[in-house]
Amino acid sequence: MQIIITENYNEMSEKAADIFCGVLKKPNAVLGLATGSTPIGLYKLLVERCRAGLISFKDVRTVNLDEYVGLGKEDEQSYVWFMNKMLFDGVDIDKANTHLPNGLAADVAAECARYSALVNSLHRDIQLLGLGGNGHIGFNEPGTPFDSLTHEVALTMNTIMDNSRLFARAEDVPRRAITMGIGEIMQAGSVLLLASGGAKAKAVKELVKGPVCCDCPASILQTHPNCTLVLDRAAAAML
Ligand code: GLP
Repeated sequence: MQIIITENYNEMSEKAADIFCGVLKKPNAVLGLATGSTPIGLYKLLVERCRAGLISFKDVRTVNLDEYVGLGKEDEQSYVWFMNKMLFDGVDIDKANTHLPNGLAADVAAECARYSALVNSLHRDIQLLGLGGNGHIGFNEPGTPFDSLTHEVALTMNTIMDNSRLFARAEDVPRRAITMGIGEIMQAGSVLLLASGGAKAKAVKELVKGPVCCDCPASILQTHPNCTLVLDRAAAAML
């Protein structure tokens, strides 16, 4: 596992953007993408670099980690809305080549099976990850088996409270989500995890130094053959 420690959030985002631009030299790259506040700076830089003609998403395909059950592209809290606003609307990507689980699917189990087959059919050159304060990746909460595939999850109270800052009221945070499984995350050719701020320091420590154990889902990344962490100083404080 390669660990890069940067001074602050902006530097973390720059470093991540450089890594993504390296991957995008392959015109038909497949990107595994993530939501949350952490990758916003990276996505801004990718939009800027695309507008400057330095990179193109023309033949790129993307597959996202997760989506809330019950939210669709018209909901400002949905991950599909977030991805359109933060990245896809600002770059030259064909939206037909962008994929997220469908939070509005009537049959959630069938949607999980469809998404799992899709993920399996795409070879991701890179999988971007954020990190939950409790060590979750995607929405794979502590206790999730390392070989899990795309599945529906009940979010922990911890995660609901963390994510409630993005909603008007904590009661509005959906209680369920569809997430790519840890088994599928691990199949990506490379993994890039970003973490910023002191609230992530304990999870970062468990990810890097703890036992590989499903109490900290992210600890499995210790066994990935090509995993890079880009952290800012505050997130790396307990290493
Ligand atoms: C959510 C997402 C994760 C994300 C995590 C951290 O629960 N499902 O994919 O990594 O939160 O979010 P943030 O980057 O906002 O701290």
